[in-house]
Amino acid sequence: MSMGLFALVVFIAILGLGGGASACSDGTCKLLDNCSTDSDCEAGLYCGSCVVGFKGSRCIRLTTSNPFSLVVLHEENYVQHVLIDTSRRRTGSILLKRRTEEAEPIQDDTNQAILLNNSLPYNKYGFLTTHNSYAIDGEPSHTGVPRITFTNQEDTITQQLNNGARALMLDTYDFEGDVWLCHSRGGQCFDVTAFGPANDTMQEIEAFLAANPSEIVTLILEDYVNAPNGLTKVFNESGLSKYWFPLSKMPKNGEDWPLVSDMVAANERLLVFTSKASKEQTEGIAYQWNYMVENQYGDGGMKQGQCTNRGESAPLNDRTKSLVLVNYFGSIPNKWLSCQYNSDDLLNMLRTCYTAADSRWANFAAVDYYKRSEGGGAFQAVDTLNGKLLCGCDDIHACMPGSTSGACSP
Ligand SMILES: *[C@@H]1O[C@H](CO)[C@@H](O)[C@H](O)[C@H]1NC(C)=O
Ligand SMILES: *[C@@H]1O[C@H](CO)[C@@H](O)[C@H](O)[C@H]1NC(C)=O
Ligand SMILES: *[C@@H]1O[C@H](CO)[C@@H](O)[C@H](O)[C@H]1NC(C)=O
Ligand SMILES: *[C@@H]1O[C@H](CO)[C@@H](O)[C@H](O)[C@H]1NC(C)=O
Repeated sequence: MSMGLFALVVFIAILGLGGGASACSDGTCKLLDNCSTDSDCEAGLYCGSCVVGFKGSRCIRLTTSNPFSLVVLHEENYVQHVLIDTSRRRTGSILLKRRTEEAEPIQDDTNQAILLNNSLPYNKYGFLTTHNSYAIDGEPSHTGVPRITFTNQEDTITQQLNNGARALMLDTYDFEGDVWLCHSRGGQCFDVTAFGPANDTMQEIEAFLAANPSEIVTLILEDYVNAPNGLTKVFNESGLSKYWFPLSKMPKNGEDWPLVSDMVAANERLLVFTSKASKEQTEGIAYQWNYMVENQYGDGGMKQGQCTNRGESAPLNDRTKSLVLVNYFGSIPNKWLSCQYNSDDLLNMLRTCYTAADSRWANFAAVDYYKRSEGGGAFQAVDTLNGKLLCGCDDIHACMPGSTSGACSP
């Protein structure tokens, strides 16, 4: 190669690098920085795209901040407010107080984490909720017949839970002499609408609860199971019954729920709601509409400035139900628009529903393709809900220790 050609090649290579590659890599890319692979991005982010929101690929959020893990770190020279995510990674920290040299000697161990207040009632938290959590891209056919139905998610149940989803919406049907998860119509599951036996999904949830002894998972069932004790059998066989939160402890008239720390201590960390009223009597499974209000789902729930209850639910402002669920997804799942739906649109609807629900922030924000966003997406929306619920701030990261309202860090 001649020197001239060599120089040209080097020049083009430099141009190529300058034009295409990102300024950051290897875990240094921050929120909305350009990226080419997930590993370019900081912890808690992944490299995603959103054609309707931004060009190319950028680091966007991958996890919620765990509201049960608000801690204050006492380190050698300062006191810090630290947030850790469900994988125990730090997602943010705020310096509260620098210890002065004249200060009393430190009695506590350095790096000691002190919990702020993780013992609020269950209904004082916001939970990321995946709609049709089981309708996952690439799920192989379990019937031998190719499926002809929509998907609403892209990750496995285990990934959803690991990324911070804490409520799963599942459609349960009688099928093949067992309980299956199907995306069907008319209350009947078919070979072409069946996703898989419910026990597989329940076992993934069991494994998550076993591995994460401080976490609480809520299941919201669109329930078409008529087989007597059909669901109970699945919960028994999958090992989930041991985490059962009993009906007797559920508030019947809009009172606060038990404290999450008590639920964790009692290992009553699985809440199940069914859409079949009779199952409260027959199987001790909570009838959803006795405890929760919910807005319209699908396109009807996406009209800006409107938040009305779905048919089965009491009006949003009925305070005899202490839980509030906000749906925000189209009638037909749309992978490309979901990143927009899950961003400002979702936050706006949460605000609209706050007003409709008599000044109550949602406990559940239900979305399709939960990871898609223009940056913060449903994860940021849940951080906002928890900020509002825990301390009246716009973001859980802004809550100051001891504050219940007003005192927000910038
Ligand atoms: C990021 O990527 C977009 C689209 O690929 C590009 O237009 C922009 O210049 C890049 N920004 C930086 C800072 O590299
Ligand atoms: C946390 O909040 C709950 C509910 O308001 C309250 O009962 C409890 O005493 C608080 N705990 C601490 C340590 O402040
Ligand atoms: C789960 O259900 C399927 C279908 O009914 C069955 O073949 C399988 O044995 C079940 N697995 C367990 C662990 O119960
Ligand atoms: C579920 O387990 C409980 C407790 O072991 C048992 O009493 C009940 O009969 C079981 N029900 C079914 C349907 O398997």
